[in-house]
Amino acid sequence: ICENVNDASRAITDIMKKKIFGSAGEKIIIEEFINGFEISYFAFVDKKTFLPLGYALDHKRAYDNDKGPNTGGMGCFTPSRLMTNNLEKKIIKNIVEKTVYGLRKESFTYRGILFFGLMIKNQEPYVIEYNVRFGDPECQTLLRNLDNDFLELLLSTTNDKLSKTKISTKKKSVVCVVLASKGYPGSYKTGKAINNLNKVEKIEGIEVFHAGTKSDSSIVKSNGGRVLSITATGKDLNLARSRAYKAVKTIEWEGGFYRNDIGIKNI
Ligand code: GLY
Repeated sequence: ICENVNDASRAITDIMKKKIFGSAGEKIIIEEFINGFEISYFAFVDKKTFLPLGYALDHKRAYDNDKGPNTGGMGCFTPSRLMTNNLEKKIIKNIVEKTVYGLRKESFTYRGILFFGLMIKNQEPYVIEYNVRFGDPECQTLLRNLDNDFLELLLSTTNDKLSKTKISTKKKSVVCVVLASKGYPGSYKTGKAINNLNKVEKIEGIEVFHAGTKSDSSIVKSNGGRVLSITATGKDLNLARSRAYKAVKTIEWEGGFYRNDIGIKNI
């Protein structure tokens, strides 16, 4: 992501002259920088129709205030005041419906979850990318708010029964804070002990998802870049946020770091 002409020339030099992506960088596409906010939107798709699941706002940069390198995602939250009814209608009508129509027109059967990576500029949604998978950490927040039987939802998708299926949610706010190894997304050390996970799970509304951990004689140790997803539910985002950070601060792990500002902006 280039903020100015200098960033852009440096990126082109890295890709085309220094060949940091090898032969994949021989051709490049320069796209418009869309200034706005990002939303990850999800819908189940079967052969006949689609069923919106919901959305989350991810935090891609490594450090607070959107500084530092891009990562897979350092935390996210749902819902947001930025997602108005009007905006969601536009996303469904102009993007989700048209995508599913396009798939059908090309006789391309896709059954599964579709992840629309969107930028919203002046209340208009733009597609940045599609992923044929859930998002990480978006999935953690969406599934904690889901009230359906998840397996039934997956079976409805594979058996083309989405038209007869409804999404029901717990109507909670959810915040997820990712704990990552110091140095991520660059190089980092693994094998550092993570303590107090048993205390964290007793905090109301908390569930911890393990991503890059391993168990070593009953001690949990780090074993990856993004290591733990601490998720918290609450009746509103402020409560979910305070529970999530209480949990994060309870964890003792000298090799880790996290962002302090997940969900502050755009709540
Ligand atoms: N969090 C963004 C992704 O899963 O691609």
